[in-house]
Amino acid sequence: TEVIPHLIDRALARGLAPLDAFRETLDRLRGAFALAVLIEGEDQLILGARRGSPLVVGYGDGEMYLGSDALAVGPMTSQIAYLDEGDYVAIDRTTARIFDAGGRPVTRQIRIIPPAAALVEKGAYRHFMEKEIHDQPGACQHTLSAYLDPVTGRARAPGGLDFSLVDRIQIVACGTANYAGLISRYLFESLARIPVDIDVASEFRYRAPPVRKGTLCIAISQSGETADTLAALRWCRDQGLGTAAVVNVHTSTMAREADILLPTHAGPEIGVASTKAFTSQVAALTALAVAAAAARGRIDAAEEARLTRLLLEAPRLISGALALEDQIRALAPELAKARDVLYFGRGVMSALALEGALKLKEISYIHAEGYPAGELKHGPIALIDEATPVIVLAPSDALFEKTVSNTAEVMARGGPVIFITDEEGARRAPAGVRLIVTPGCDDIVAPLVYAVPIQMLAYYVAVQKGADVDQPRNLAKSVTVE
Ligand code: M6R
Repeated sequence: TEVIPHLIDRALARGLAPLDAFRETLDRLRGAFALAVLIEGEDQLILGARRGSPLVVGYGDGEMYLGSDALAVGPMTSQIAYLDEGDYVAIDRTTARIFDAGGRPVTRQIRIIPPAAALVEKGAYRHFMEKEIHDQPGACQHTLSAYLDPVTGRARAPGGLDFSLVDRIQIVACGTANYAGLISRYLFESLARIPVDIDVASEFRYRAPPVRKGTLCIAISQSGETADTLAALRWCRDQGLGTAAVVNVHTSTMAREADILLPTHAGPEIGVASTKAFTSQVAALTALAVAAAAARGRIDAAEEARLTRLLLEAPRLISGALALEDQIRALAPELAKARDVLYFGRGVMSALALEGALKLKEISYIHAEGYPAGELKHGPIALIDEATPVIVLAPSDALFEKTVSNTAEVMARGGPVIFITDEEGARRAPAGVRLIVTPGCDDIVAPLVYAVPIQMLAYYVAVQKGADVDQPRNLAKSVTVE
């Protein structure tokens, strides 16, 4: 970015007009960027361009804006236009002249963004993350209502997605969205019997795996703008695969480029640490797994209705988990002293263990690792001593006894254990663990319920350490570059 002004300056010095100098400079640039350019002496002009990274134009009343997404300009105007890949724009106080990569003048649709995106406030909460953790019952309910019909008991896949034509699913995502994908793999495979491959997008896009016709690529992303996930989605599309995007920002690039939009309805998420977007992704994907199982004849109508009913219980159960807040806050001072924290679980809980560890490390800067509990003996157990807290995610499901026996191995080595379970699990938990008892629930909603205590744990540890919860160091909300 330091080079770009010099290139523009040189072109101006050769006598080119500002827009021509900008255009010539763009032709010389390689890589991904979103630019906003001011030229000295041209006080009625802002130039903008995007390649790889998103850029929106905001239309105000006698004023115009450039921003990275709708949220950025939301407080100033509700009218925005997304620039397409390669577009550049010249704006003055009242107009935006947009050109495509070939320099042709083009029109980009002006959209009205919903007021919710413009009016995001913390309210009575100290941080956006805290608010967003508490938003989860509503976020899940809104999301589920797009996929489940409480009257008919049917689960539906939006956008004409027909799972009976899908032989395989390839999930691509980054960070927390990737862990939502990992959870959904268990459900698509066990309920719908569709084989699922999942890759972090930054690896997938360069791995160039062989792809088969009949594979559906599902990209998962809160922002819909993550550069690696977008590139992976495009790669799949270029291979001729069908594409779907589970996204929270419905006007984002992924939402626009995928064949099918699978929306989450979490509302704007501001905290860098993803919370309600994650549970909304898990909710949407779980409902889709039920829809897929029904479409493929793997479950009958009665079972579909039963699973639908259970899933629709999720918002109430999440509210129940939020009531654990005081207990979790009380654990924070001790946990905040740790240098390392380990998270264990089995089945879907192993994926949630990864998410718990990511949440803790990104906002509290404590080193944390998540593992499938069965992997303990293959290495991580060597880390355990009296100073290494272990968080065990242990709903009383079919794998509970195995998780208990792994927990006993940890305790035999002096590791302090926080054991997150339900009432039935609490009765059968090993002696000496610190218990957190969540509302009892069916396996299908357990990831949604158990996500809440691990988010709150990370939040209160970060607060205890005085960390900048909503803007952790070195991180950005949306990673639009590689
Ligand atoms: O917008 P996306 O869902 O594509 O973002 C993916 C990751 O960057 C994101 O989930 C990141 O890992 C969060 N900071 C986790 O809390």
